[in-house]
Amino acid sequence: MIAFLKDLILEAGKICKKDQALLKPLDIEYKNTKDIVTTTDKKVENFIIENIQKKYPSHDIFGEETGKTHYNSDYTWIIDPIDGTTSFLHQQPFYSISIALQHKDQIILAAVYAPAFNELFYAQTESGAFLNTMPINVSCTDELIHSVMATGFACLRADLDQNNLPMFCKIVPKLRDIRRYGSAALDLCYVACGRLDGFWEYNLNLYDIAAGAFIVKQAKGSVTDFTGASDFPHQGIVATNTHLHTQLLDNFKTAKKHVGAKLFNRDSDLSKT
Ligand code: IPD
Ligand code: CA
Ligand code: CA
Repeated sequence: MIAFLKDLILEAGKICKKDQALLKPLDIEYKNTKDIVTTTDKKVENFIIENIQKKYPSHDIFGEETGKTHYNSDYTWIIDPIDGTTSFLHQQPFYSISIALQHKDQIILAAVYAPAFNELFYAQTESGAFLNTMPINVSCTDELIHSVMATGFACLRADLDQNNLPMFCKIVPKLRDIRRYGSAALDLCYVACGRLDGFWEYNLNLYDIAAGAFIVKQAKGSVTDFTGASDFPHQGIVATNTHLHTQLLDNFKTAKKHVGAKLFNRDSDLSKT
């Protein structure tokens, strides 16, 4: 199955690379003011689904653009055809294709491909995680002040009161530096290979994180929700190299207490700092 998945995601990546430079305004639709989808998102998802259904006709599918099938299969393919559509549309390289296979309630194999960099991250249960042909592991950084992390602002896109900005302002000064690449799937894979020491975000969907979270865990990283439990991404998602997980969760807890009441209050003093 992993060989099928790797070949499929590489072929899907060729569609992205061909289409990106040719995108025109007509190729864009708006899901809401900030959330866009391109004709390539849909083309790539249809290509992936067609090939999965040819090979595994009884399997279920959960795709970002086409939704869920209901064949009652033990297997479900979870697909984000382009994670980082904003990057893709703006001719930037930080976008990826994310595909995970769930068996019953566990992810058993996954791949995230960044076509612009020709970097294929993949993993399967108990076989470790890989970048192209190389095995990968999380970093060894064990102090927040020496760490580089990433986050995103899904919450802002959905114009949610509970957004990441107060937390961002509290946590970032405690880190060496912060990155906002624009693809949660890639953020997670960068934690898996040690380019990042951690990642957090609110309001992501399962298809954004299913593959990347699995790859982090296979690379000996930790993935939880903001409380340290496993209800991610519903209760937010926090991924680290494991060494930093407790420190980061404790800082989130303190930050939330400090800004908690104001987290939802637009007139918070914080917004004036
Ligand atoms: C987006 C990316 C981004 C995250 C957004 C997601 P999409 O995925 O993962 O990093 O911050 O919230 O929606 O919409 O481009 O598939
Ligand atoms: Ca996504
Ligand atoms: Ca997407």
